Amino acid sequence: SPQQTWSQRFESALHPAIARFNASIGFDIELIEYDLTGSQAHAKMLAHTGIISPEEGEQLVTGLEQIRQEYRSGQFNPGIDAEDVHFAVERRLTEIVGDVGKKLHTARSRNDQVGTDTRLYLRDQIGQIRQQLRQFQSVLFALAEQHVETLIPGYTHLQRAQPLSLAHHLLAYFDMAQRDWERLGDVYRRVDLLPLGSGALAGTTFPIDRHYSAELLGFGGVYSNSLDGVSDRDFAIEFLCAASLIMVHLSRLSEEVILWASEEFSFVTLKDSCSTGSSIMPQKKNPDVPELVRGKTGRVFGHLQALLVLMKGLPLAYNKDLQEDKEALFDAVKTVRGCLEAMTILLQEGMEFRTERLNSAVAEDFSNATDVADYLAAKGVPFREAYNLVGKVVKTSLAAGKLLKDLTLEEWQSLHPAFENDIYEAIAPARVVSARNSYGGTGFDQVRQALDRARAHLSEP
Ligand code: ARG
Repeated sequence: SPQQTWSQRFESALHPAIARFNASIGFDIELIEYDLTGSQAHAKMLAHTGIISPEEGEQLVTGLEQIRQEYRSGQFNPGIDAEDVHFAVERRLTEIVGDVGKKLHTARSRNDQVGTDTRLYLRDQIGQIRQQLRQFQSVLFALAEQHVETLIPGYTHLQRAQPLSLAHHLLAYFDMAQRDWERLGDVYRRVDLLPLGSGALAGTTFPIDRHYSAELLGFGGVYSNSLDGVSDRDFAIEFLCAASLIMVHLSRLSEEVILWASEEFSFVTLKDSCSTGSSIMPQKKNPDVPELVRGKTGRVFGHLQALLVLMKGLPLAYNKDLQEDKEALFDAVKTVRGCLEAMTILLQEGMEFRTERLNSAVAEDFSNATDVADYLAAKGVPFREAYNLVGKVVKTSLAAGKLLKDLTLEEWQSLHPAFENDIYEAIAPARVVSARNSYGGTGFDQVRQALDRARAHLSEP
């Protein structure tokens, strides 16, 4: 007779190619520990409600624990004949505990089971990713603390705009990571709902206690509709949205690091531990880490898109299409975690800001032009008039190959009588930065306050 667990209705075994095509054991083995934990809770619930005896419940829980030990020590390696992780575990359990193993699946379906496993997995992973975000933030914070008074050109349109405190620039990424951390906390609340007890789609005839199972597994609640419970993947899509935004942020930072490491910018030097050479050009030192992070971002977006499309046409309730959610989710988790780890290491020990070069870069451009306009506006010249005048100054200075700081007081005064000797102080880069003291601005005092807020975030539970 055929080997499959669902075999009695079937006359012949699956075609080998179809068995391979159908099997998910090759990837859903990733869920095994969660499957075991979920099954142990289910067995306890069956005993608790008297659906099976206390002794039977004990045997099932112990047998499942043995499979966990076998798996951890590398002895349990189910092949594709097991179809999926759920059948593999049930089969091994029955080998270990005998016929009582066949009682485990009472009042349960693989549909509510796999949904449970996936949520247990994701709850765990969200916790780990949030911890990694915290580490990433700590490194950004430490760098920002060191670089409050280091200046860096600020850009819009990738054109020099206004100089910044480097700490301000770094804290922008800190704040993005803070939103990512919070967003994952929001997503968690909807991952933290238990579908177990939904049965295949309609609930079960047994007197189960779903809230008891939820309590054992530490879920915040249970799905209130069995059809929705077995076929909802919103939680996975929401997670992929949050993961995609983490990647957007890492990728933007990566792009900046790549620019900064170029000869043209020369804002950072890459350390040997985090860069690689060329096979032909001996002078090269390449920013592979940020390039890979930027590149891998597309994978995570792709998985989000894949799941949205996977879900959009599915009728209620379970459809085998849903088996396709796992590789997307697992790869997204692996990618985000790998990228967070690599970027954290890169920032912590893989690159160094070239402080002198940064501080001198902001003194060699016209990024203090706004401050000349502000200077006149503060003396009562209407801002738009001042703006037009400074535009002319920039034009003539550029033509003369001069910077604003090189203009003589006579030249300034010939442009407008309101200019006085303090114009030089007003356009010095450090002054230009420190003067932007509005809340959330780059002024040093503001940045120090932002550091205090960041420190407080880092100690949030
Ligand atoms: N491997 C399956 C999945 O990942 C488990 C659920 C199978 N359910 C079913 N009715 N065939 O979705």
